[in-house]
Amino acid sequence: MKLSEFPRYPLTFGPSPVHHLRRLSKHLGGAQVWAKREDVSSGLAYGGNKMRKLEYIVPDILNSDADTLVSIGGYQSNHTRQVAAVAAHLGMRCRLVQERWVPWDDPVNDKVGNILLSRMMGADSRLTDAGFDIGIRDSWKQALHEVEEAGGTPYPIPAGASEHPLGGLGFANWALEVAEQEKHLGVFFDTVVVCTVTGSTHAGMIAGFAVLEELTGVRRRVLGIDASATIERTRDQVTRIARHTAGLIELARDLRDDEIQVLEGWAGDLYGIPVDSTMEAIALGAQLEAMITDPVYEGKSLAGLIDLVRGGEIPKDSTVLYAHLGGQPAVNAYHSLWSS
Ligand SMILES: Cc1ncc(COP(=O)(O)O)c(C=O)c1O
Repeated sequence: MKLSEFPRYPLTFGPSPVHHLRRLSKHLGGAQVWAKREDVSSGLAYGGNKMRKLEYIVPDILNSDADTLVSIGGYQSNHTRQVAAVAAHLGMRCRLVQERWVPWDDPVNDKVGNILLSRMMGADSRLTDAGFDIGIRDSWKQALHEVEEAGGTPYPIPAGASEHPLGGLGFANWALEVAEQEKHLGVFFDTVVVCTVTGSTHAGMIAGFAVLEELTGVRRRVLGIDASATIERTRDQVTRIARHTAGLIELARDLRDDEIQVLEGWAGDLYGIPVDSTMEAIALGAQLEAMITDPVYEGKSLAGLIDLVRGGEIPKDSTVLYAHLGGQPAVNAYHSLWSS
């Protein structure tokens, strides 16, 4: 099936805005850097990258007889906050498993930011002690079971909506949207930089840009910056989901290995814990562009972009698109990084 034939339920205002980061580009003295902003493209609880994924999943939810969305993430999961938002929007219940993915000992880590918003929207958000893992978890299966036992009908949405069969479609469409926006803006983004953890954002882009390449013959690089600190698992997941999504949207060839690039070097030792390069990137984004990035995801991918431009791997004549995937509510749980 062509991507345009898949049902899509709107959760965003439309195409996400694209703009030139002039001061950051000047500061880096290399490539021209632009941003495409998933963080400001939905009115549902501050939005973020899961809205696009869920746009292709909601029709399946509405076709089921489910009354409760069940999902999983860390205490400060942006994903579960967006699932809670969609449940509220659709008039459904929401059960969330929030694991201790990050050993971040801030007393408000499990109270403010994303988790606060999920609870405000009526989600039944319960904490467990399990650590970080992007795979399918027993605690999530258990939550599905509990919803059933209580007489509800669950609709399962795995971590990051990535392992959902339709999870890659949203960002395949993002690629086609970029091509349309390029026509209006009169630019061509030869390189895209995106944060990757559970994988379907990056994977969807890979599949979408591969379809575009077939139509136009034009190649570009889509660089995933790992923020999981478990890179082999993320790379495997990106590869698998990219191939699956490419199949769904009928790419008439296999993906090449060079189309699947998950880069390491900016995640630090642990998911969710910022390192010096993260903090520098967050400061540059905020102080040069008032573009707020978080210490878990976007600060790490921005750090990758900055180093790749400074080191010349992204050359001076390049025009690079930074995919801003959201994540700002989590900064509340990291307030100690900026207090004195
Ligand atoms: C703000 C933000 N950036 C990046 C990501 C990574 O996206 P994905 O899990 O699809 O790889 C996520 C979610 O995990 C996120 O919430």
